[in-house]
Amino acid sequence: MLRAGAPFNPSGSSPPASEKRMPAFQKISVLGAGNVGGSLAQRLAEMDLAAEVVLVDIIDGLPQGKALDIQESAPILGFSTRVTGSLNLEAIRDSDLVIETAGLARKPGMSRSDLLTKNAEILRGHAVAVKSFAPQSVVLVVTNPVDVMTYWFRRVCGLPPARVFGESGTLDTARFRTFVALELGVAPKDVTSFVLGTHGDTMVPILSLSSVSGVPLTRLLATDTLAEIVKRTQQGGAEIVNLLKTGSAYYARPPPRPNWPKPSAGTRSGSFR
Ligand code: LAC
Repeated sequence: MLRAGAPFNPSGSSPPASEKRMPAFQKISVLGAGNVGGSLAQRLAEMDLAAEVVLVDIIDGLPQGKALDIQESAPILGFSTRVTGSLNLEAIRDSDLVIETAGLARKPGMSRSDLLTKNAEILRGHAVAVKSFAPQSVVLVVTNPVDVMTYWFRRVCGLPPARVFGESGTLDTARFRTFVALELGVAPKDVTSFVLGTHGDTMVPILSLSSVSGVPLTRLLATDTLAEIVKRTQQGGAEIVNLLKTGSAYYARPPPRPNWPKPSAGTRSGSFR
């Protein structure tokens, strides 16, 4: 019988020691089992980034059902992550990383700031839970308006600023790199760039630091074309909301990389390497 939280080995037999890869994290909790949380939990599991991924939501059956569905893909995809779902915020206890995705999503015509009041109320309870059950964790906030929600979450949970991140620029940079790659017919991975600032209309793609395989972007694209790509990036979220009509983007939400900071092994002192 599978014990909750026990590392899950789909093949049944224990892999040879040489193949035993220790996951980067012991436990990652994802708050919110909607489109963003569910697809993130799936990606985290498939990356074998943690021994355990916990999905938490308030809708009975949603986190449990998505967790079980992801878990049942383990034999097909070969990951060992144990994926569980819960309605109880205490399920995040002792998480190394907590990813906040809960809250309302935009509808066409709404700005991210229109979500502020409602999502701040939802996140208040989650921040209190992190303070109580996972005070040594690192927190990644995705919920919009993400810049304000990240600040709010940190104020309420009381964790050090160095351990509470907002997702922002990663998504915007991915969009800018995608639009450049599509325009030039190159591989997105060969496009280097950074989008800084808020996750909103005032975000700034840094053109002087943008290049394709080392060639400055300003030598490859005309000024007006670059301006169009910058504007499309700034409107990237609304473009998808207007297409989907019932929600916002959730696939281009990258999980943390394995070399992310994590609590010092064994001490859970919260100091990070
Ligand atoms: C977007 C939302 C997630 O930019 O803010 O798609």
